[in-house]
Amino acid sequence: MKTLLKLTFSDKAVPLLERFEFGNSTGGRQVSVRSHDALGRGALEEGVFPWNRGMRALSVLLLRAHVAFHEGGILPVISGYPGSLAAALDYALSKSPHWLVGLFGSDSAGCPNIDRLIRRTNPECTMPGPVSLGVNEHVLDVSAIEIFGAGGRLGPPAARSLIEELVAEDERTQLARAQQRGAPIGAASRQGEPCPFGPAFQPYWDRLSPRERGMLLDEEALAHLCPEEAALATAAVTPGTHVIDAFCGAGGSAIGFARAGKRVTAIDICRERLEMARFNAALYGVDDRIRFVHGDARELLHSLEGETVYLAPCWGEESTLGQRRSKLVSFTPLGGEFVRTALKGGRNVVLQLPIHFDFNELKSLGRPVNVSEDRVAGELFSYSALLRAA
Ligand SMILES: C[S@@+](CC[C@H](N)C(=O)[O-])C[C@H]1O[C@@H](n2cnc3c(N)ncnc32)[C@H](O)[C@@H]1O
Repeated sequence: MKTLLKLTFSDKAVPLLERFEFGNSTGGRQVSVRSHDALGRGALEEGVFPWNRGMRALSVLLLRAHVAFHEGGILPVISGYPGSLAAALDYALSKSPHWLVGLFGSDSAGCPNIDRLIRRTNPECTMPGPVSLGVNEHVLDVSAIEIFGAGGRLGPPAARSLIEELVAEDERTQLARAQQRGAPIGAASRQGEPCPFGPAFQPYWDRLSPRERGMLLDEEALAHLCPEEAALATAAVTPGTHVIDAFCGAGGSAIGFARAGKRVTAIDICRERLEMARFNAALYGVDDRIRFVHGDARELLHSLEGETVYLAPCWGEESTLGQRRSKLVSFTPLGGEFVRTALKGGRNVVLQLPIHFDFNELKSLGRPVNVSEDRVAGELFSYSALLRAA
């Protein structure tokens, strides 16, 4: 029997998986439907699954595999720390509940097919770092994944929207549960979880959302990461459909541009940092919209396409009479010279500026400038200065 894997979603504002069909030569054909009990109690019956976080995570993973297959991207992984959507699927896989085994059936020796279909790295986060889950393409034929809505078969763009909605709904539900428990919301709710890089990095960790905490980072990448809220704010004021992120780091800003629907060319001189960015982009399901280029932006910039160049360098700062100020010369590498080179290509340039930046200097660049604020949980994180092409 050829592999068959069909996921049918409802057409509701918040999508629900209604039906799951799987068939292959070893497991035969299984059909499971969603439990109509909100608590998923009916899932104890044969052929019924609960619409819980583990099932939502599995749906996201399969939807992303479907998109990657049709759009030519690499097969995705979902990953995260305890409390994340990925960790919910990891937990379900460890517990092997009746409904999860029932989705994919068992082989002739009675072993659940699910155990071979999903690859897990660092199950239950027993080692430092996140758990990662991916589809085992040697066992599951991803070309067989088909997605349906109430109106019939859905293509990759609709599958992408489903992923966004499922992830957003999960974040809303988690937030509402935290509120019910009386936990603080917003940035305050993120505080309290110890930073894996030690107390010195706690303030950087506290500003990250649960999803960002599943990213691959090192200490420096964490300290420099543009949090998603600020990255999306920057993307909203960045013109053009193709952005070159000349100093992409672990990918905070590049992911923001890609989530806003732009194509991105992401450069970093540090190969490890670039690999982090690639992993992190996959975590957000946007790795196929980003081209990752290893090298020195000073040498690469002139040969790459893109209407807008985004510059978020490592900023230094000076202190005069107790006043902290960052200037273009404190920009590593090459200070203001690099900004002038970027402007020469006739492209728009967006500069991420630290909150202590000396704005007088921008006048010397001879371009009209629009400055906007990037905030995280209401607090000023940085400025984005748009220097429009002449
Ligand atoms: C401030 S971080 C960027 C952070 C990033 N916007 C984010 O949200 O994760 C600056 C990055 O520039 C890289 N870098 C420094 N000099 C570079 C050069 N000449 N060409 C390309 N990348 C460079 C560093 O390796 C570092 O990862």
